[in-house]
Amino acid sequence: MLAPNRLCLLLQLAASLPSIGLLACRETAGISEAPLRDAATFPVGVAVSVSRVWEDPTYEALVRHHFDSLTPESAMKMAAIHPERDAYNWVYADGLVEFARETGQRLHGHVLVWHEDLPGWVATFQGDASAWSAMLEEHITTIVTRYADAFDQWDVVNEAFEDDGTLRHTIWAEHLGEDYVAACFQWAGAADPGAKLFYNDFGLASSPQKLAAVLEMVDDLRSREPPVPIHGIGLQMHVDLEHPTIEEVAHAAGAIAGRGLLVRFSELDVALNPGGEDIDLSSALLEAQRERYREIVAFYAGLPDEVQAGITVWGVSDADSWMRLEAGRMDWPLLFDEAYQAKPAFFGFAAGLQPGDTSPAATITRSWRP
Ligand code: XIL
Repeated sequence: MLAPNRLCLLLQLAASLPSIGLLACRETAGISEAPLRDAATFPVGVAVSVSRVWEDPTYEALVRHHFDSLTPESAMKMAAIHPERDAYNWVYADGLVEFARETGQRLHGHVLVWHEDLPGWVATFQGDASAWSAMLEEHITTIVTRYADAFDQWDVVNEAFEDDGTLRHTIWAEHLGEDYVAACFQWAGAADPGAKLFYNDFGLASSPQKLAAVLEMVDDLRSREPPVPIHGIGLQMHVDLEHPTIEEVAHAAGAIAGRGLLVRFSELDVALNPGGEDIDLSSALLEAQRERYREIVAFYAGLPDEVQAGITVWGVSDADSWMRLEAGRMDWPLLFDEAYQAKPAFFGFAAGLQPGDTSPAATITRSWRP
């Protein structure tokens, strides 16, 4: 029996009308392989564009097939969901909730408070600290309350620290004061006491000062009376083939887990062209990416079950990657190629889920204890 992607190739070659072959390819693209979600003991998630779920049947089928957790890539960022001071746009978030209700997938809310993707009215908002606090409390409370029955996890605050461990001078820190992170978690916890609340950031494995500052912040919040509700930390994991090393990842994840906090690899992708060079994709790069996904997933799979909140890859196909759109560079960081065919990276991810992995990463995990 021919593997579907081989079949695709033959259909394209044989069919007098290539579109027939292509049609057949798209029909099986990305769903020929066994679902990743079935091989994992933790949620395997993907960041999605809601409009692509609506408009692209192949994208939608792939998202349904492999993943059991969905994160809105942009639909719940402030510019999208709260575009005017007195107006929210629920269309896309509601659409994602409806889709997840139909598929039974979990939802991870991203992101209540970030200093990017802000609507214009925030930049011109006038008021003293209490007015800014009331505005942000209303934003958080309105959204978390509306979706309390659908989202059981939230990225409450994103990227509040600099790599050197200092608090980032964001519009929120400027107008609400340096303790704004605590207030945001208190507001989110009051709106949905049952939700798991995360602090999310990049570079936590590669910047020791940032990791230390985040952990000090979490320790402070949890030591208050009453404790500020914070349940976990999302390491974004926008990595490349070498950085951070798996040992650095293990150190950061271990420090987080050692506090009894949930650990999420919240935005995993593996850049093949971090320097934005003029390079071509090669089988050597694809093979190295396969191994990189395997070692990261194998490490995560070896963490104690009680701290595993899941891995989310930051996009479906390479064509969707924020690296191409945001960073404006050619890269191939995800599990599926532009035709939604599984790349070696997909098989590396799947291999990392297999128990009994004897790789250095698995050895690190087995030997590591908080
Ligand atoms: C990115 C999205 O992928 C882009 O589509 C959007 O234009 C900008 O934001 N860290 C985060 C994510 O927490 O929300 C960012 O996502 C990538 C960096």
